[in-house]
Amino acid sequence: MPIKLGRYHQWFLYIVGVVLTLSGGAWLYLHHFIRIDGEFGPVHHPSEHLLITMHGISAALMMVGLGSVLPGHVSRAWSMRRNVRTGGFMLTMMAILSFSGYFLYYLGAEAFRDITAIVHWVFGLGLPILAWVHVQRGIKTRGKK
Ligand code: HEM
Ligand code: HEM
Repeated sequence: MPIKLGRYHQWFLYIVGVVLTLSGGAWLYLHHFIRIDGEFGPVHHPSEHLLITMHGISAALMMVGLGSVLPGHVSRAWSMRRNVRTGGFMLTMMAILSFSGYFLYYLGAEAFRDITAIVHWVFGLGLPILAWVHVQRGIKTRGKK
């Protein structure tokens, strides 16, 4: 299997990545900054529920995406030592996001919830930047090794 991902494979990762980031980012904004008038005072925006649902679904799809790059892309690039630094960061980031994300979903441990949420969205907002750097560096170093 080559390191370079097929066209549809790349589209899958980019689209899932965009939906994941936008749903998380929009939820964060609505949840912390927006209240609307309800019958008994200010309430959360009704779209929060749809956004976090989209986030949960795209998070699961991103785990499929992660699994899909391991056997070909990652293992071949790793053995050829290509783009290892930003690739390693990508894997670390995925590990932090999936652990913290599923921790938020399944564990109601209130004491850790706030800190886990902050870790999760700070790394989450960093993911698109890192992914962009990873792709650019990968393309730039093509054919050099
Ligand atoms: C591999 C990547 C990711 C995975 C596996 C993941 C997974 C999850 C899961 C399972 C939840 C809990 C959903 C719920 O409570 O119903 C969650 C919440 C959240 N995620 Fe992600 N996520 C990822 C990336 C991102 C990104 C890129 C952002 C961008 C900002 C983000 C922002 C958030 C926010 C703001 C929450 C709500 C936190 C809270 O409850 O206070 N996530 N994520
Ligand atoms: C979460 C894990 C990762 C994801 C989602 C990911 C995704 C991508 C994507 C979308 C591209 C641009 C498309 C392409 O050139 O095929 C790319 C390029 C590249 N990545 Fe990754 N990557 C990951 C991890 C890694 C790791 C761990 C390494 C190295 C050990 C690596 C090495 C490379 C290389 C060498 C390129 C340029 C390939 C080429 O010649 O086109 N990636 N990656």
